[in-house]
Amino acid sequence: MRIDIATLFPEICETYLGQSIVGRARNKGVFELYCHQIRDYAFDKHHRVDDTPYSERQGMLLMAEPIWQCFKAVTDGRRPRVVYMSPRGRVLNQQILKEFAEKGEDLFILCGHYEGVDQRVLEKMEAEEISIGDFVLTGGELPAMILADGVVRLLDGTLSQADCFIDESHYSGLLEYPQYTKPQVWEGMEVPEILTSGHHANILKWRREKSLEETYLKRPELLETAPLSDADRAYLSEIKAKYEDMPVFLDFQ
Ligand SMILES: C[S@@+](CC[C@H](N)C(=O)[O-])C[C@H]1O[C@@H](n2cnc3c(N)ncnc32)[C@H](O)[C@@H]1O
Repeated sequence: MRIDIATLFPEICETYLGQSIVGRARNKGVFELYCHQIRDYAFDKHHRVDDTPYSERQGMLLMAEPIWQCFKAVTDGRRPRVVYMSPRGRVLNQQILKEFAEKGEDLFILCGHYEGVDQRVLEKMEAEEISIGDFVLTGGELPAMILADGVVRLLDGTLSQADCFIDESHYSGLLEYPQYTKPQVWEGMEVPEILTSGHHANILKWRREKSLEETYLKRPELLETAPLSDADRAYLSEIKAKYEDMPVFLDFQ
């Protein structure tokens, strides 16, 4: 997969996406990353990329032409999936990241700034809009890095074992069970005995039950859509009884 990010701050994206797990994946060739300075495609000698909006609105907008020139130069006839990071967009979640990773299409990610971007270039590039949540940041760089990081993490070759993410929160619709590392006793608190028993089947059962419990307590609405077995439902009834004094606004029966 090739990822191109068009931004006024390419160094920020380069630095973050060059580190740690994602940086190693890039070095191994799992994906290619190119961060582009939109200003390099400005058409005047001051490299101006913004202007005032045609409305009563205050603030500045990124102009269409420098972005369009950047897009044309970078894609050079290729047809990547074009994403504009935007608070107006579809809100990102793990299912969307999975879809991006499974399709494996090249990405051209546009980061807005100021009050946003001239609408016409979004239409011209046939951009889809993706939001990272119902709040507004000053620029699209953090959202772009979140999208790139989340997708790259799911590509073959990024994590050492594919199952690193299979049990994780949101991958299968539930939250992850609690995890522990050494030492076995810390500050008088012991790792749950079952995890040191070596009994694989019991450990798997414990993990599933803890996932169900975490989800019930922290994000009960996820249980409405998570795939649940009869055993899961039976265990959830036990949890419901255990926490009957706690207000949980859901009936998963
Ligand atoms: C101040 S915001 C512009 C907000 C825009 N005027 C609006 O109301 O939708 C500047 C840029 O930050 C990025 N941005 C801000 N919040 C975001 C979010 N929640 N998700 C994705 N991108 C966001 C977008 O690229 C946007 O163009």
